Amino acid sequence: MASRKRRSPVLFTAAALGAVALARTAVRALRRIDLRGRVVVITGGSRGLGLLLAEEFGRLGARVAIAARDAEALDRAAQRLRARGVEVHAEARDLGDRAAAEAFIDGVARAFGRIDVLVNNAGVIQVAPMRDLRVEELEEAMRSNHWSAVYTTLRALPHLDEQGRAARIVNVVSIGGRVAVPHLLGYNASKFAMMGFSESIQAELSHGGARGPRVTTVIPGPMRTGSIYNAEFGGSRQREFGWFGLASSIPIATIDARRAARRVVAAAREGRAEVKLGLSAHLLSWAHGVAPQTTARLMGWLNALLPPARGGAGTTRGRDLRAPLQSSVLLRLSNEAARRNNEAPPEAAR
Ligand SMILES: NC(=O)c1ccc[n+]([C@@H]2O[C@H](COP(=O)([O-])OP(=O)(O)OC[C@H]3O[C@@H](n4cnc5c(N)ncnc54)[C@H](OP(=O)(O)O)[C@@H]3O)[C@@H](O)[C@H]2O)c1
Repeated sequence: MASRKRRSPVLFTAAALGAVALARTAVRALRRIDLRGRVVVITGGSRGLGLLLAEEFGRLGARVAIAARDAEALDRAAQRLRARGVEVHAEARDLGDRAAAEAFIDGVARAFGRIDVLVNNAGVIQVAPMRDLRVEELEEAMRSNHWSAVYTTLRALPHLDEQGRAARIVNVVSIGGRVAVPHLLGYNASKFAMMGFSESIQAELSHGGARGPRVTTVIPGPMRTGSIYNAEFGGSRQREFGWFGLASSIPIATIDARRAARRVVAAAREGRAEVKLGLSAHLLSWAHGVAPQTTARLMGWLNALLPPARGGAGTTRGRDLRAPLQSSVLLRLSNEAARRNNEAPPEAAR
């Protein structure tokens, strides 16, 4: 009798949790949009996560529009998508330029006649101590990471509004938009801005009876996209490439980019408010939420381990560095990802 009494709160809790999980699954299923025939715009769709997102949206029947600055990489991406039977519209544009971003959105609307989903994925990253970065690099991070998303979103909004609650805006932010990682000043600052933008438009468009598009904020930790070869390195460039390359390749701390793309598309279809990708994104977000002083100190200790500033200016692309580490087995996973994801790795990494 006594043991039955003790068991009942446990059973009750288990039943309540089960009911919540069931209700959540049902709500997600109700919200899930069918992508067949829909038009999905992906900024920075020429390589890495953006290209994998384009493939995943395309696999599920969407027509996709992609933009990036490098016309050759964009063309390779478009050909690869077409070879998979995906209908593609591609425009070589610098989306950090307002007129170019708006012209891209207008071009998509003209080509396809509608826009259902906008994925703000374009991004750059500069890895260097703050004393080795110039104002120009910080401005470039804000333009490519933050302003590009603002320009495309505001221009696409009237088209998205036509689709009502079935429309989606997906903002690919970063754990660097929640916790400031040392040697990533421009990246962190622009991703914090993007986080604020994403959560602000979500409050106005997606909740409290609003009838606008559902906004999803994506918070990835390090992903194995292979983008280390397109990242920019300043200061002691080879050493900066070394720590960043390793941090982008360690299996448990990083997430496979194709898996990440599948999770982003699933979250977008269900109109989820936020999705975190990878263990580090979960752990760091949680730790920063409950003990911000401790994570700030932790980042300071990490900074002390990183290469000191050299007092030099300018940055070099990862693929132009010719760092010995590039052919190392330690970067095997990143190198494989770079080859697969149109990241154009240097000879040593092939
Ligand atoms: N990889 C990671 O570990 C990681 C972690 C957290 C968050 N993220 C975020 O996830 C997104 C994708 O990352 P990724 O690793 O796939 O990077 P990536 O391989 O470097 O791809 C970035 C894409 O954005 C485009 N792009 C950059 N600036 C642009 C501009 N001004 N105008 C138009 N296109 C522009 C690039 O093409 P062009 O250079 O030719 O323009 C490229 O297509 C980024 O927003 C990144 O910050 C990545």
